[in-house]
Amino acid sequence: MLDQFERNIEYVRISLTDRCNLRCRYCMPESGVEKLRHEDILTFDEILQVVRALAALGVRKVRLTGGEPLVRRGLADLVRRIRQVPGIRQIALTTNGVLLPELAEPLVRAGVDEVNISLDTLDPEVFAAITRRPALPQVLRGIDCLRRAGMKEIKLNCVPIRGVNEAGLMDLVRLARERSLKVRFIELMPIGCARHAGFSGIAMEEVRRRIEREFGPLRPAPLRRTSVCGPAVYYCLPGFAGQVGFIDAIEHKFCSSCNRIRLTAEGYLKLCLNAKDGLDLRRLLRSGIREENLRLAIRQAVCHKPEEHFFQKKDNQARDHRAMYQVGG
Ligand code: GTP
Ligand code: 5AD
Ligand code: SF4
Repeated sequence: MLDQFERNIEYVRISLTDRCNLRCRYCMPESGVEKLRHEDILTFDEILQVVRALAALGVRKVRLTGGEPLVRRGLADLVRRIRQVPGIRQIALTTNGVLLPELAEPLVRAGVDEVNISLDTLDPEVFAAITRRPALPQVLRGIDCLRRAGMKEIKLNCVPIRGVNEAGLMDLVRLARERSLKVRFIELMPIGCARHAGFSGIAMEEVRRRIEREFGPLRPAPLRRTSVCGPAVYYCLPGFAGQVGFIDAIEHKFCSSCNRIRLTAEGYLKLCLNAKDGLDLRRLLRSGIREENLRLAIRQAVCHKPEEHFFQKKDNQARDHRAMYQVGG
């Protein structure tokens, strides 16, 4: 499915819930947030209706996100059902990893192909300070469980923040030296709590320099043409089993090659991470729309996908102020 800028839309990120079992300071307030009511979020049947329509329009990859997707009951069952949709080739998950010790095995068995885990630090105290929960041991155990269950594609997401996890960034890089996984650094985006004072992201250029100083020259990794790509750019380092990646979300934006749309937990089709524009699919689904009309409505909406994100524009009317846990990253 092409949009008006000839970008091929083949990837959907589906947020399954706005709930989360952590309270990362740059994402959620301590008190949590006003939760969506159960009846307001899409059921698995409704999600599958959307996935079928999207697959018929050319979407090949589904990433399940949150909030924290593992807190949604029956997740493995949903994965199994998405697996059966003709046209869907890859199913991925973005999780904080806390529930992986229990769920890694059933999820891999159900057909998850890739897992991205948010892990900003390997220091238990810094972890507890960022997430407000002392859950690092569960996350590390979860990564081991994933590996044991046979998961090959594991990526760790780290958002470097000045004075918060700054001192431990190279420990994460070291993990990519020892293990065949990808460690990715993400530029902090001014979304949700991260818009407030006190959070200052570290530029990717600085992270790159520090890595090269300690580990040697970063060499571009060979492209994997078999998978539907995302915004990260990957590098190899001498003697490393894994790779290091960077997501320059704002500075070097990747909008011109964007391949994705998003579905929020309450069924709003979002065309861009921080654009208001989109389509209320829940209303259409609950009015009993037929599949061919659903496809038509989605196709028309995708025509309005913005050319680029709004982070660098001031006072833009089209900007969406939803937080990361509401959008799914
Ligand atoms: P894969 O490449 O499929 O692994 O997915 P991903 O890297 O996009 O997934 P993940 O959920 O791990 O997201 C990593 C970071 O990239 C998060 O901070 C997302 O908010 C950010 N991100 C993902 N897609 C976009 C996008 O379209 N625009 C921007 N600006 N950031 C994005
Ligand atoms: N900027 C950049 N990345 C963020 N994430 C959450 N909030 C932000 C932000 N403001 C990351 C999380 C998670 C991924 C889905 O998004 O660390 O790994
Ligand atoms: Fe695409 Fe919007 Fe992301 Fe840019 S910000 S890469 S246009 S979804």
